[in-house]
Amino acid sequence: MTDPKIIIAIDGYSSTGKSTVAKQLSKTLGYIYVDTGAMYRAVTLFAMRNCYIDATHFNEEALERQLPFIAIRFEINPNTGVAEVVLNGENVEQEIRKLEVARFVSQVAAVSVVRKKLVEQQQLLGKDKGVVMDGRDIGTVVFPHAKLKIFMTATAKDRAERRFKELTDRGDDVSYEDVLKNVVNRDHIDSTRKDSPLKKADDAVEIDNSNLTLEEQYEQILKLANDAIVTVNS
Ligand code: DC
Repeated sequence: MTDPKIIIAIDGYSSTGKSTVAKQLSKTLGYIYVDTGAMYRAVTLFAMRNCYIDATHFNEEALERQLPFIAIRFEINPNTGVAEVVLNGENVEQEIRKLEVARFVSQVAAVSVVRKKLVEQQQLLGKDKGVVMDGRDIGTVVFPHAKLKIFMTATAKDRAERRFKELTDRGDDVSYEDVLKNVVNRDHIDSTRKDSPLKKADDAVEIDNSNLTLEEQYEQILKLANDAIVTVNS
């Protein structure tokens, strides 16, 4: 008998709107949504709070030693129905979205033992399928056999504009130049790191959404998902 549920991997550059699409898709399909970037951000927040990382230094060894004591889980916000990140019992969903965390997250995400721990947890979260997972290495490393892989791109300028609006709408005091710099810098670190660099899986469908409305993009992706589910069940 075939398994009716599939794994959908959504990878791509930062601020391409992966999480918006992934959340919408998971809701429509009744699948679990896992935001793996949030997990790397939570580890980064932990490192920042413990002074393992700042603008001048990164004590990787100290972070590695503390890894067994970092517990990350998701809890559903009853008001929005969306999963939020909990770090050692504390809901840190708001804090991890700050530009300050984004400044250091690519360095933390380049540490192999951090990746190993989070990838194992992500594989467990997807073991029963019926999951939409977004990140950078979902289709290449976490679930190389995912039935549907999407790779999202857009120009750095478009992405920085979106992220700037998101942050300022929330009341964060940031400049557009700083957001653009962060986007470009993260692209560079994420795609050149040794362990699991950001790259399109050979069998991923690439979607450049620079000139697509959210609705157009969503329609395309929903169709791909429905086609993949039909294929598995036929
Ligand atoms: O998707 P995001 O911007 O919240 O991700 C934050 C950072 O985490 C991103 O710059 C790279 C890293 N990341 C990763 O290396 N692998 C993933 N699967 C998800 C995110």
